[in-house]
Amino acid sequence: MSKKTTLVKSADSKDALQAASRLIQKGELVVFPTETVYGLGADATNDRAVAKIFEAKGRPKINPLIVHLYDKNELGKYIDVNQDIMRVIDRFWPGPLTIIAQMIDNCPISKLCSAGLPTLALRVPAHPVAKELIRLSKTPIAAPSANSSGRLSPTAPLHIINDDVLDKVSMVLAAGACNVGLESTILDMSGDHPTILRPGAISEEELAQILQTNLEKNFLDSKNPKSPGQLLKHYAPAIPLRMNAVDLEPGEALLAFGSDKFMGIRGGGAASDLPEASRKNLSVEGDLIEAASNLFKMLHDLDKPSHKGIAVMNIPDIGLGVAINDRLSRAARAKSV
Ligand code: TXA
Ligand code: MG
Repeated sequence: MSKKTTLVKSADSKDALQAASRLIQKGELVVFPTETVYGLGADATNDRAVAKIFEAKGRPKINPLIVHLYDKNELGKYIDVNQDIMRVIDRFWPGPLTIIAQMIDNCPISKLCSAGLPTLALRVPAHPVAKELIRLSKTPIAAPSANSSGRLSPTAPLHIINDDVLDKVSMVLAAGACNVGLESTILDMSGDHPTILRPGAISEEELAQILQTNLEKNFLDSKNPKSPGQLLKHYAPAIPLRMNAVDLEPGEALLAFGSDKFMGIRGGGAASDLPEASRKNLSVEGDLIEAASNLFKMLHDLDKPSHKGIAVMNIPDIGLGVAINDRLSRAARAKSV
């Protein structure tokens, strides 16, 4: 694909949103904010436009995309809807939850979005800019996270500007940091039993309560992933990452959670000796929501060749901590596979 001059526009401007929607209608790529992470969007009904997403990200064509809708009432145009699906979306849409369900016959979505699967992933985002872009474009928008394949998801415009993906898109709608900061929870409702394929801001407990059943989980099964995007090498910074660190190796950067007062550096020294650029704290108060919203941003900040690696302190494996640990363990294992 030839190099382009990309327009980075503030999403506050009505003109920018209108221009972005015209680009979508013309089959071009637009980066836009959602409440989870920035998405790399294209008209989901246009094969050529969807193909451009795969090309821009260097994404394997076997990895299907999430289609973003304006209104949950449109659902029946694309998938087989049942009572359980209605119950879940009535509670959590618009919001950071993706539903996978069986596609209907003659579904107007490009087959490239589902990558040959009989199922489709759908989400109604809550971010006002995402909603307005879909409304003005008058078409569902397919959008993966706006990063090159295998790299960290962008949660602020600066992350996109620093990614090769920038040259491949026609416009970036910039609207500051994403408040959730982690990709959506993916709930597979296409089989006999609801299954979480990716943990996220909507927790297993919240879903189980609405569905009144225990949920299966498939996100740890790396040998036989149901979601092609569960490939281990995902969400990776370029330098090694080490979890549950209780001390630092010389040259490592620190990603702390809670107080780092007792973090020492092997061979002498303490975390407090590190320069600010090598020492970040997901949440000084130990708040998991704050930690999730900071995770990708701080990983981006620490992912510098001047660091030997990133040591991450223990994060409790409860609530949003499950999603944070999922992303961290993929990043940690990426270097060893
Ligand atoms: O928060 C989010 O979900 C963001 C924003 C932009 O909406 N999007 C996002 O998309 O994270 P992406 O492409 O980075 O991740 C989508 C995941 C992939 O792991 C993909 O394999 C999985 O969803 N997926 C999509 N369709 C699927 C399907 N039919 N069956 C199983 N997994 C599917
Ligand atoms: Mg992604």
